[in-house]
Amino acid sequence: MTTETEHVEAEAGRKAGSLIYRQKLTTRLTHWLWVISLFFMLLSGLQIFMARPDLYIGQQSGFGFDNTVLSIGSVRIEGEWQGRTTLFGESFDTTGWLGLVPQGDQMARKAFPGWMTVPGNRDLATGRVVHFFFAWVLVATLLVWLVASLANRHLRDLIPTLSDLKRLPGDVADHLRLRFPHHGRYNVLQKLSYAGVLFVALPVMILTGLTMSPGVVAEAPFLLDLFGGRQTARTIHFVVMLALVLFFIVHLAMVLLAGPLNELRSIITGWYRTDTESRT
Ligand code: HEM
Repeated sequence: MTTETEHVEAEAGRKAGSLIYRQKLTTRLTHWLWVISLFFMLLSGLQIFMARPDLYIGQQSGFGFDNTVLSIGSVRIEGEWQGRTTLFGESFDTTGWLGLVPQGDQMARKAFPGWMTVPGNRDLATGRVVHFFFAWVLVATLLVWLVASLANRHLRDLIPTLSDLKRLPGDVADHLRLRFPHHGRYNVLQKLSYAGVLFVALPVMILTGLTMSPGVVAEAPFLLDLFGGRQTARTIHFVVMLALVLFFIVHLAMVLLAGPLNELRSIITGWYRTDTESRT
């Protein structure tokens, strides 16, 4: 039986936990380089998309084909311009957000407002330079992360084991109850989402990006078959971008709910406070 003093001491120990070195230098450096490059790639990507704000499925694009899945534009109704977004044939009035957007003290007929693109004004050439520069930063950073994670065995921290997967329902229940135990290792939902980003989303993003380059497909035509043509590759590229934005929102919410100071300390300095001294 524990005495009251032992109980109070154990409780204090549980709250204080122990400081462990959780994130290695390469993990932290590459993480922040991804954040910077993905930020610029998103905004410059929207600038490039604005040159033709339509998405298609299939090999063709143009007026003669009925394969548009998304279209952002504007229409004139009774002399008034209106922002109009069409998704799978359903049209929505998106005035102010998409198609007809504020610019200074006027409205402009363009797909996105200035705060959503880099540069803020219409400038396809600069958008492309920024996008391709950060694309190479991202690719280089992923390669550094992969080599370092193989060498320091960090890769093992991200691959869910069978016993991890058995814990999945419990982990989901913990998250739904907003309970975030602080252990030394990632929980199974973290493993699945980080592995999904690093081994699925980002490689698909890079490969579909390469499929849009005429120079690359001239050398590697199998990419066109792999992704069902250049237009479908462009649509997949866009959908993966949306999935990454969703990941970012959930990731940020988890950091805030799990204790932002402890989480930020770990991804900046490497040091992380666990709930108990014993569990790492
Ligand atoms: C585009 C944005 C982001 C992406 C794609 C991203 C992706 C990732 C990935 C893949 C990991 C695991 C890294 C590894 O173990 O090698 C990770 C960890 C982490 N990220 Fe992010 N992240 C992003 C933005 C952010 C931001 C803005 C913050 C903070 C405000 C943040 C905080 C963290 C923390 C604290 C961890 C470690 C979690 C833990 O130790 O439990 N991330 N992130």
